[in-house]
Amino acid sequence: MDTLQAAAVSVEASLDALLPPATDRVTEAMRYATLGGGKRLRGFLVLGSAGLFDVQRDRALRVAAAIECLHAYSLVHDDLPCMDDDDLRRGRPTVHIAFDEAVAVLAGDALQTLAFELLADPATHPDGAVRAALCLALARASGAAGMVGGQAMDIAAETAGTPLDLAAITRLQALKTGALIGFAAQAGGILGGAGPGARAALAAYADALGLAFQIRDDLIDATGDARAAGKRVGKDAAAGKATFVGLLGLDAAAKRASTLVDNAVAALDPFGPVAEPLRDAARFTLTRTS
Ligand code: IPE
Ligand code: IPE
Ligand code: MG
Ligand code: MG
Ligand code: MG
Repeated sequence: MDTLQAAAVSVEASLDALLPPATDRVTEAMRYATLGGGKRLRGFLVLGSAGLFDVQRDRALRVAAAIECLHAYSLVHDDLPCMDDDDLRRGRPTVHIAFDEAVAVLAGDALQTLAFELLADPATHPDGAVRAALCLALARASGAAGMVGGQAMDIAAETAGTPLDLAAITRLQALKTGALIGFAAQAGGILGGAGPGARAALAAYADALGLAFQIRDDLIDATGDARAAGKRVGKDAAAGKATFVGLLGLDAAAKRASTLVDNAVAALDPFGPVAEPLRDAARFTLTRTS
């Protein structure tokens, strides 16, 4: 998707400028984990939602960099031996393989705090209330009631006696993946002072997109190849992960993702043509191979 690729170049440049220089193992690992790969979907969603409200581009790019730092931290920790125990990410060795476990834990920690530092910096927005709202939204999306909570459910499900049902998997995936995607889609509205109607439309879009995105991730694990994906595949079923693919089968899971993308696109109706990049991002979710 061309618009996603163009945005990814800008987000990469923003990250390169905002990450600390590599002066030791931890800062080197922070840059390794964050630069030179990734689709930058979450950064794109910040730019796309900011585009609905005429937000200054330099401000949106700082928030895009912040969510990509937070996301990169979540991946570094997700790949650790105590979590998914993966050795390949974005086509390269994972951080704990390229460095070591202690450096991977610390680089993840530092990427997380850097995300909040970027949001809280006056360069992100002159109004302190806007900066506080961004920090609050990212904290909620990332913590025990957000991504971390979803990751905890994901790990617990591996050893649970009974498989999770549809409602439980929906909640797990809404937290582990949907919450950060939700922040990204809301961030442009926070920066641009969007009203409650627009915020609700963005939330509906992000809820559907987040679930569709994780279903596609699970389909890539079940049927994709590691070279295209840049990460190991065929691991979820063996690990006992709770996924829609495992519960519903390949075809029904793909159909569910497709319906969710239709819902995401429809949720953007109030915005008209200016939301086309966000619609494209939703459609891209169904065809991506990485
Ligand atoms: C991978 O996210 C982890 C999930 C939440 C499914 P992405 O597929 O967005 O990973 P990158 O950033 O493009 O590598
Ligand atoms: C990871 O989900 C979600 C987060 C990192 C929060 P997965 O474990 O399915 O992601 P991949 O497949 O390793 O990218
Ligand atoms: Mg995982
Ligand atoms: Mg994983
Ligand atoms: Mg996965």
